[in-house]
Amino acid sequence: MKNEINGKKIPRHVGIIMDGNGRWARRRGLARTSGHTEGLKTARRIVEAASARGIAYLTLFVFSTENWKRATHEVDFIMSLVKQHLTRELDFYRKNHIRIRHTGDTDGLAPDILAEIDQAKSDTRDFDGMQVILALNYGGRNAVVRAVRRFLRQGGVAEMLDEDAITQSMDNPDVPDPDLIIRTAGEFRTSNFLLWEAAYAEYFITDKFWPDFSTEDFDAALAAYAARERRFGTVAQ
Ligand code: IPE
Ligand code: IPE
Ligand code: MG
Repeated sequence: MKNEINGKKIPRHVGIIMDGNGRWARRRGLARTSGHTEGLKTARRIVEAASARGIAYLTLFVFSTENWKRATHEVDFIMSLVKQHLTRELDFYRKNHIRIRHTGDTDGLAPDILAEIDQAKSDTRDFDGMQVILALNYGGRNAVVRAVRRFLRQGGVAEMLDEDAITQSMDNPDVPDPDLIIRTAGEFRTSNFLLWEAAYAEYFITDKFWPDFSTEDFDAALAAYAARERRFGTVAQ
């Protein structure tokens, strides 16, 4: 059966709210920025693990539409980390056959970041392994507003507006809804992540800070997912 490994259900699409970089750093008496540097290493590790386990789509929450409220130096640091990573990691993506995509509001992102994203997207366009969707300047509400605007710009009218029309107008309409959303650092909230798409996602929350999140923790999330019964509003079998 599809979406199974050794008889275990594996999610086709996993989303991760990579939270707790700042707290991880503070616990060590370090600047918040070193938490982000360490968090990037975790992201790389988990991308490799997810790809090896046959996950088809991985959406990483990198920077939210609300994260601009942080100190300028922290915002600048995160943006420069993203840029450096995209510039340097093509070999990593090639080796793992990973295709890079983006979701989020391109308005508000600096031209140099946008250029790097576009470059990474086109460099990896033909890689046929896992797709990594970077949620950068991403907000779930913002994504729905932009989808409705796109629908209207393409000639949509009220009578044509239904759930499918909105889904088809999102940033990456071919990407299926997330099956599993992992959040690190113990917070029980969505923080505006994939609001539309996560209608029937399973959630897995761990207290681990993102820099400490290991491949074993990722496997624990997959095991928890495999044990869930997804009913989609129907009655238990
Ligand atoms: C997640 O870690 C990274 C981003 C939101 C960019 P945080 O920076 O939110 O870390 P905490 O939540 O303050 O510990
Ligand atoms: C969510 O984490 C955003 C990302 C992981 C990029 P936040 O740290 O911004 O969320 P809140 O502020 O705790 O809700
Ligand atoms: Mg946080």
